[in-house]
Order: sequence, then C-alpha cells, then structure tokens
Amino acid sequence: MRNDLGGHPATEPDSGHVAEPVRSFLQDVVDGLALSPAQLSPKYFYDEAGSRLFDHICELPEYYPTRTEMSILERSGPAIAARLGRDTLVIEPGSGSSTKVGLLLEHLEAPAGYVPVEISGEHMHTSLAPLRERFRQLPIHPVCADFTEPFGVPAGVPGHSGAVIFFPGSTIGNFPPDDAVHLLGRFRRLLDEHGGLLLGVDRRKDPEVLKAAYNDAAGVTAEFNLNLLRRMQRELDAVLDPDGFRHRAVWNDTESRIEMHLVSQGRQSITVGGREFRFHDGDPIVTEYSYKYSDNGIRDVAARAGFEITDGWTDERCWFSVLYLTPATG
Ligand SMILES: C[S@@+](CC[C@H](N)C(=O)[O-])C[C@H]1O[C@@H](n2cnc3c(N)ncnc32)[C@H](O)[C@@H]1O
Repeated sequence: MRNDLGGHPATEPDSGHVAEPVRSFLQDVVDGLALSPAQLSPKYFYDEAGSRLFDHICELPEYYPTRTEMSILERSGPAIAARLGRDTLVIEPGSGSSTKVGLLLEHLEAPAGYVPVEISGEHMHTSLAPLRERFRQLPIHPVCADFTEPFGVPAGVPGHSGAVIFFPGSTIGNFPPDDAVHLLGRFRRLLDEHGGLLLGVDRRKDPEVLKAAYNDAAGVTAEFNLNLLRRMQRELDAVLDPDGFRHRAVWNDTESRIEMHLVSQGRQSITVGGREFRFHDGDPIVTEYSYKYSDNGIRDVAARAGFEITDGWTDERCWFSVLYLTPATG
C-alpha cells in the first residue's frame, strides 16, 4: 500500500502471523524506512498515547489551528448550518476527539446522524461519551477504519441522501496535493448530488507563526513525534533508541508545507520486521507534511477532485478557512 507520504512497497518483511492491522503498520514502517530519506506515515501517530498528546497540542498557546477553526465554527455556526440544510447526515473522517462537530451539530436542524470514522478506535469510543450525553436524540454510528482505504457508512443509517462529509483540522494538509486530490475524489464518490464537503484548511501565513506552532516551548509536539518510535517499540518489537532521535519542524516555502522530521543524533540503526535500517548523524525520518494553502491552491485541489467551492468562512486574521464544497456540475 502507498503510505500518505508517497512511499512504494518494498520487499515483504519477516512478519510471521501478525493480525492484519499490525501487519500493515509493520509493512508500512518497513517500506517507509527503506526510502531515502526514510518516511513514516503520520496516520501512525495516533495510538492511544498519540491521540492524547494531540489533544494536548490543540491546547498549546502556539498551536493556533484548533482555536482558530473553532472560533470560525462558533461565530459562523448558524450560517454554516443554514447552508447544510436540515436532515443532514454528518460523516467525519479522522474525527479524533469529536470536539468540533458539536459546534456544528448544535446549529443543525434535525441532523439525521453522525458517523465518526477514526483509526484510533479506543480514543474515538471514549471521546464520544460527552457527545452522546449532549445530543441524546442523535443517532451516532462510529466506524473504526482507515479513511484512506475504502470505508462504508454502516447499513441502516438513515438520511444518507444529502450527506455532508466534515473534514476539519486541516487533516487534508497531511497529504501532498496529488494525494489530496485522490482522497477528496474518493470522498466525492461517497456523496450524491445533494451532498457536500465541509473542509477545514490551514492557510499560508508568516513562517514564524507556522514554525512556532510545530516547535512548541513545552515540547509536546516533540513528544508526539517521538511517540511514533515508542509505538514501534511497543507494537512491532522494534529495536531502537527513541532518545537517539530529535524532533525538528521546518518550513519549506517552495512546497508550502511544514515538515516534521525525527533527526538521528549520531550513527545508529533501527531493527524491525527482521530488517535493519542504518542512520548517520543528521539523517532525517520524515514523519509529517502539513501543507498550507493559498486560495488558488485549494481551489485547484477541489476542482481536480470534482468539487467546487461554493461558500467559505474565515477568522479576522485569515489564518484558517472553513470551506463548503459541492459536487461540480457539468
Ligand atoms: C489532525 S487530527 C484532527 C482531529 C479532528 N478532526 C479535529 O479537527 O480536531 C487527525 C485525526 O485523524 C485521525 N486519522 C489520521 N489519519 C487517519 C486515517 N488514515 N484514517 C482514519 N483516521 C485517521 C487521527 O487519529 C486523528 O484523530
């Protein structure tokens, strides 16, 4: 399988009889470490510990995206809900703690249901309790799945016509533009002509603001990044030294993205799945891209995926956008 950063399949690792989800984690790790530079998919950040660390990141003073997007949803919630209409089924790929969807649901007229789709299943189930409490009448149908693979809405979910895919958090920014087009194209095929996509997009801005957001003073983002190595130890019996790698986040202006790396401190190796991967001092493992979009950039991705942007809401500083996309006609 291609990972989110564009790796290619390599040779089959020595995986034995490992259950399927672990095997694909193992296969993706082995494939990714064989690339030059080595790459690991950001979707593997999110085990139970990683999901908790991400929630902590969202509260950090430097990490503006969550606060900014929530302020847009708070201020423009009624207008967004009016645009979505009544009886809407809300599907959220990568729902995390399902915090933002509450800001949408509270304004929606008679929502038909909520379908969170999350790779970090336990975290999703725990996080849904407050939402169930708050919206007692709302049918909630959680799906534990990788949204980059085909996934379906559970059978029997009512109100499927006119469904809206809610994709906040600028999770789209984790995908290089061609992969983003591919992913949104798949979302497009889940919708009928009455449906839409409510998309949270982080915008280009002062690089100093961006760099600070991914290099917080408290070191939580560094912990989040390093947790990927610890997860490989826990789940894949990888032999490695997490303290031998350092978190780094840099702004790549040409590609319009923040890049997160784990940088080798000295010569060392990682052994996993019966394979050994060697690192020299300063060698990076690329763990996440976070693309920041201009208006033209996101319009181009949307159009190539078969959508048109019909509405948009932003904050006073224009740092973040919540966009409504509908299937393009003609
Ligand atoms: C940046 S967080 C956003 C969370 C939430 N939507 C928000 O805006 O606050 C990304 C979330 O997507 C989930 N995720 C990432 N890649 C995924 C994948 N391929 N399939 C399913 N969930 C994924 C992660 O576990 C995480 O909870």
